[in-house]
Amino acid sequence: MEIVIRAPKNVVEWEQYYDLRYRVLRQPWKQPRGSERNDGDATGVHFALFENDKIAAIARLDLNSENIGQVRFMAVEIEIQRKGYGKQVMLAIESYCKTQNSSEIVLHAREIAIPFYQNLNYVLVEKSHLLFNEIQHFLMTKKI
Ligand SMILES: CC(C)(COP(=O)(O)OP(=O)(O)OC[C@H]1O[C@@H](n2cnc3c(N)ncnc32)[C@H](O)[C@@H]1OP(=O)(O)O)[C@@H](O)C(=O)NCCC(=O)NCCS
Repeated sequence: MEIVIRAPKNVVEWEQYYDLRYRVLRQPWKQPRGSERNDGDATGVHFALFENDKIAAIARLDLNSENIGQVRFMAVEIEIQRKGYGKQVMLAIESYCKTQNSSEIVLHAREIAIPFYQNLNYVLVEKSHLLFNEIQHFLMTKKI
């Protein structure tokens, strides 16, 4: 099995990328297609884990300021969660942040994902926003 983490690079790969984001993070809450994208996609740094030629896990990094990176839209293909792919993407993001001289990563975790980020040594800071009136998020941070 060949595993590569990089940005999508052609139309087919970008479609796969946003489709995964939609199916994991939007469709279960009956949100419309298109709701998985936002303006930050133009400036964010995109990470996709390819299992052979298929995208299995994704995330976006926004470089908010000179030394703080924010992770958004972290998602792993439903049938292959808990196989280490999410962790591999987060570690690739941390390595990239170090090359950009970032000293901290922040993110708003869904409640269900808190143990995943704690396993990667992110620290819970505070409760943040409620998405779609039901998904509680929590601000988490890690110095790198
Ligand atoms: C949350 C998510 C990104 C985690 O990715 P994943 O590939 O399933 O997780 P991994 O297999 O990489 O887990 C890495 C480590 O965290 C631990 N972990 C992951 N989820 C966990 C959980 N719910 N409870 C406890 N530990 C957990 C794993 O045991 C693993 O530990 P190990 O390295 O010691 O074996 C993924 O499950 C997902 O996309 N979930 C649905 C969408 C979502 O909630 N996204 C996050 C939005 S903030």
